[in-house]
Amino acid sequence: MTKIFVLNGVNLGTLGERRPEIYGSLTLDDIYSQLSEEFPDVDFEFRQTDFEGEMVGFIRDCGAADGLVINPGAWTHYSYALHDALEATTVPKVEVHLSNVHAREDWRRRSVISPSVNAVVAGMGAFSYAAAVRYILQCSTGS
Ligand code: DQA
Repeated sequence: MTKIFVLNGVNLGTLGERRPEIYGSLTLDDIYSQLSEEFPDVDFEFRQTDFEGEMVGFIRDCGAADGLVINPGAWTHYSYALHDALEATTVPKVEVHLSNVHAREDWRRRSVISPSVNAVVAGMGAFSYAAAVRYILQCSTGS
């Protein structure tokens, strides 16, 4: 069974309440349920943390998985620690964002994470996560 980690960073535990006009009304649990329903053959490991060091540990735990989907939240824009942890991980990695970070404040347009991942998906709401999972499945089947 394909094993995929879905990691969510700082402030993403408040999805559903936090700026729904930007991030939508789904909670993180809703997103996890949708993914589990859409991909019944994937063994998902869903994790969220507001602590950067804990996220580094989560990234290291992905070593034996088939892929990793990460929404780093605001860490996207300044965490060299997450960049380095991701760079050291060889599984297919996708950075996802619910919102279109390029259509918002200038500081959101820069990601220090993007150079360390295979792909980036932004602005598709919860579908960003599903698109990332599809990409990883494609990598693991080689098609
Ligand atoms: C986000 C975009 C980030 O700029 C922001 O800090 C978040 C969420 C997104 O999913 O759109 O917390 O990663």
